[in-house]
Amino acid sequence: MADLVIRDARVMTCDPARGGLGLIDRATIAIEGGKIASVGDDAPRGERELDARGRLVTPGLVDCHTHAIFAGSRAHEFALRAAGKTYVEIQAAGGGIMATLGPTRVTTALDGLLAARLAVMRHGGTTTVEAKTGYDLTADGELRLLELLARHDRVIPTLLAHLVPPERTSDRDAFVREICEQWIPRAKPLARSVDVWCEHNAFTLAETRQIFEAARAHGLPVRGHVGQLSDLGAAELLAEFGALSADHLEYVSDAGIAALARAGTIAVLLPGACVQLRLPPPPVEKFRAAGLRMAVATDLNPGSSYCETLPIQMWLATTHFGMTVEEAWLGVTRHAAEALRVPCGIVAPGARADLVMWWAETPEDIPYRYGTSLVASVFVAGLDAVAK
Ligand code: NIG
Ligand code: FE
Repeated sequence: MADLVIRDARVMTCDPARGGLGLIDRATIAIEGGKIASVGDDAPRGERELDARGRLVTPGLVDCHTHAIFAGSRAHEFALRAAGKTYVEIQAAGGGIMATLGPTRVTTALDGLLAARLAVMRHGGTTTVEAKTGYDLTADGELRLLELLARHDRVIPTLLAHLVPPERTSDRDAFVREICEQWIPRAKPLARSVDVWCEHNAFTLAETRQIFEAARAHGLPVRGHVGQLSDLGAAELLAEFGALSADHLEYVSDAGIAALARAGTIAVLLPGACVQLRLPPPPVEKFRAAGLRMAVATDLNPGSSYCETLPIQMWLATTHFGMTVEEAWLGVTRHAAEALRVPCGIVAPGARADLVMWWAETPEDIPYRYGTSLVASVFVAGLDAVAK
């Protein structure tokens, strides 16, 4: 007997074996031991049985790029940008990431802040979250962030070399060496990957290479914030290191796209940050033509995108980036799970039983009705994860 059986669901399996979004009408999903046991027209019995009444059931959403652990607010920067200032101008005047370091370093409330954000995410249908460090930027502090992240189920921690903090700009070589020789070895038991912001106002291409080499020496895969404000050739570097993902990619050359496609690296697109910083959309048509797998994420952070939920990102991905509804859905399910190497993001036997039931019958309803949460129920490991 299954632990849970959901009957009469319109199941979006996202199963590559079925093609497209792998929709199955009037299907039954059986869950055992926290995993999908079967999906289709079997009629197993369950300890608990639910009738979906034809509603859409999808994989739990996967947010594969967030900076969910931080303290403080930068709402005034939002107001400055609305009045015409750029992200780089605000950073040069002492704002940006640097303005989040102080509050994050001193607060004792970080775990509560993180837990509250994760709860909002879950209400929005997100069941697996990647979360980066990067708002402390000292060896002990970054470790503390990783430890806090690692306490949470279904949070995938990433060590992020975000910026050279103001107190280290006079010895940036020593700072980069410290990341390589101290942060990475200490992060190894907790972090699942190493990320670098490679940009003219963050880490150079040569520094990024040094950090990636240290990650590789310690057996940690890499990903990167690349091509957000300019193309420094970091997509090619990520490809050379077989990166899990290349994130942002507003500015990327044809050679960079081809290299990422050859490496099987996933392009993580962040439409909320792109729109808010008034950047050009990434070249989605070229990604598609090159066969790059695309994911879509919130980039939740206090600067460029204070947003916990993915459906609005799917709306921006479709309306502003020109992604199809199918691409947007795969971007927040299977492709996002692949960017994290986590066995979720599909509804197929053996996958984690992380599911969302929607107040909707068709996949396009979710981005189409972007201003309203259509989440009816969220299941994590086959158990109710959201009190309604
Ligand atoms: O992904 N690009 C770098 N990091 C963030 C912004 C972080 C911040 O402003 O606090 C991003 O957009
Ligand atoms: Fe980011």
